[in-house]
Amino acid sequence: MGKSEKTTPEHVAIIMDGNGRWAQARGKPRLFGHHAGALRVREIVEACPDLGVKYLTIFAFSTENWKRTQTEVSGLMKLFKRYLMSETKQLVEAGVRVRFIGDRMKLDYTLVALMDELELLTSDNDLVHLTVALNYGGRDEVARATQRLCREVANGKLDPESVDAETLARRLDTYVLPDPDLVIRTSGEARISNFLLWQSAYSEYEFVDTLWPDFTRDEFARVLSGFNSRERRYGAVPG
Ligand code: IPE
Ligand code: IPE
Ligand code: MG
Repeated sequence: MGKSEKTTPEHVAIIMDGNGRWAQARGKPRLFGHHAGALRVREIVEACPDLGVKYLTIFAFSTENWKRTQTEVSGLMKLFKRYLMSETKQLVEAGVRVRFIGDRMKLDYTLVALMDELELLTSDNDLVHLTVALNYGGRDEVARATQRLCREVANGKLDPESVDAETLARRLDTYVLPDPDLVIRTSGEARISNFLLWQSAYSEYEFVDTLWPDFTRDEFARVLSGFNSRERRYGAVPG
């Protein structure tokens, strides 16, 4: 696509950061910020069709977030369960197809059951594809994909000589998704924190200072319009 053509990013990924600081600024416990952050998710998902975003991927819990206090981790897990239960009907009716990426093995059985159910209930939807990264880490994902690949080689189903980047990409949790065009991180931190390492090789990045619970639909629209002025080269010389 030529650089002069205005494009909306088809796939936007968001590192929803800053819930803790948002709560601290109000003298409240960190979980208060996570609740406020969860409320923003619906607004951003609902904005996607109008803004031309087909795929939205959100980072909800990383493989490193288990290092937090037991109170925060169990509070977050409870919040995820409650959120999935309360949002199911709305997501089904709004035409949102929900998927989860990350390692489910370490998650509580009742949470995994809710995740499976939501994926199934929304599997005919196609308006917006929402992917929630839960117990997700980019390195962990590549390691798990490599394990699958090695197993296939060991079973004689895959020729090691045929392995290329595409072979690995097809075994990642994101195998059905296009690569993200734009990755947004809120809260002013300019790092990836193990999010979509493989998939974001050529993504554009946008770091905004706003804390996630304050990130509105209007700000989302502004960030997307900024994407239009970027020139993506993919290693080639601009033409
Ligand atoms: C992001 O907000 C949400 C999760 C990581 C679950 P944080 O909880 O990281 O908020 P800050 O970065 O401490 O403000
Ligand atoms: C990244 O935020 C993970 C999520 C938003 C779920 P963190 O707050 O965990 O990242 P670091 O610790 O600042 O790198
Ligand atoms: Mg953080």
